[in-house]
Amino acid sequence: MRKKAETSVDLHPILAERWSPRSFDGNSTISAVDLTAMLEAARWAPSSNNGQPWRFVVAKRGEYEFSKMIDLLAGFNQIWTPKAVALIMVATKTMNEDGSNRGSALYDAGLAASLLTVEAHHRGFVVRQMGGFDRAAAVTAFELQEGIAPIVILAIGKQAPAESLQDPTLVEREIADRTRIPLQDLIVGGSI
Ligand SMILES: Cc1cc2nc3c(=O)[nH]c(=O)nc-3n(C[C@H](O)[C@H](O)[C@H](O)COP(=O)(O)O)c2cc1C
Repeated sequence: MRKKAETSVDLHPILAERWSPRSFDGNSTISAVDLTAMLEAARWAPSSNNGQPWRFVVAKRGEYEFSKMIDLLAGFNQIWTPKAVALIMVATKTMNEDGSNRGSALYDAGLAASLLTVEAHHRGFVVRQMGGFDRAAAVTAFELQEGIAPIVILAIGKQAPAESLQDPTLVEREIADRTRIPLQDLIVGGSI
């Protein structure tokens, strides 16, 4: 299913066509090259002072870590994620080396996740981000070092037809239109 963004001018096809499905093919696999490429894309994201605060926990379907990550998810997210081919938890270093607060940590990690998503779509995969998980439990479950805070879990998969979600609420959401705030409402200063 496609949900091309309605834009006032043409965008790069990956940006126009990208959206966040929940319906994945549970038989799909992912190669080490594809997974590495996604993480390389994230690795080469820009960051404040080139601080690169992002850290990742990678789990492929069938691995123990995959079910461990699913256990951390909110109930609604647990319904559709088992068919993902991989789950990647994005975390970030919250402190600078001198112990001061790393103000751009979330921004930097978001940029990394964003580039990962673009590379994934370029390689024929789709990504849905999830904030609905137990962050405190994630720290314990994956023994994250002090100062490394989990932010999102990315569900990566091969897209399947909406109907394969089975759950009527999920199917309804899968086929719903994508909406955005009008561009002019986002420009709060200056003009195009
Ligand atoms: C930080 C963040 C947290 C999100 N949490 C969830 C989530 O817990 N479960 C879910 O199904 N989608 C989640 N989403 C996906 C958004 O709902 C989705 O990206 C948004 O509706 C826009 O849809 P689109 O990506 O298809 O354009 C999250 C997205 C972001 C960026």
